[in-house]
Amino acid sequence: MLKKKMLKALNDQINAEMYSSYLYLAMEAYFQSISLKGFAAWMRVQVQEEMMHGMKFYDFVNERGGKVTLEAIAKPETSWNSPLAVFEAVLKHEEHVTSLINDLVDLAIGEKDHATNNFLQWFVSEQVEEEASAGEIVEKLKLIKGDTSGLFMMDAELGKRVFTMPAPAAE
Ligand code: FEO
Repeated sequence: MLKKKMLKALNDQINAEMYSSYLYLAMEAYFQSISLKGFAAWMRVQVQEEMMHGMKFYDFVNERGGKVTLEAIAKPETSWNSPLAVFEAVLKHEEHVTSLINDLVDLAIGEKDHATNNFLQWFVSEQVEEEASAGEIVEKLKLIKGDTSGLFMMDAELGKRVFTMPAPAAE
């Protein structure tokens, strides 16, 4: 059974993951609006991943006998000046999410909630990947400095990304 404080924090995280999904959907719309379809496709995968993160928390709360409480999802930012500005925002957002996950781990440890701590470790690893992939794209975009042919090459590369559900063993 989840303690009250832990339940509230996990419900807040469902909202944070849903907000992430919504933010990346806004970024996808930005890329659609400037016809960078590959960047848009990469972002769609990100939207699905965040939804999956939110659902992992949702399922976990239910599994532990807690009541999921859904709150309003905040309006995301909707315009950026460049693809680089978008990915700098992604990186900043993922760093923020990492701090949220770390706070949840701290709380689980403080509450001696080993099951939640164990569950959260998947997210600790996931955040390393999330920050690394956003950081890599930021660096590439800085290298090409808005050069059109470089941008189109990146568009083709990013468009190859596909969403894969994590294996049950990793859940
Ligand atoms: Fe759910 Fe991108 O962290």
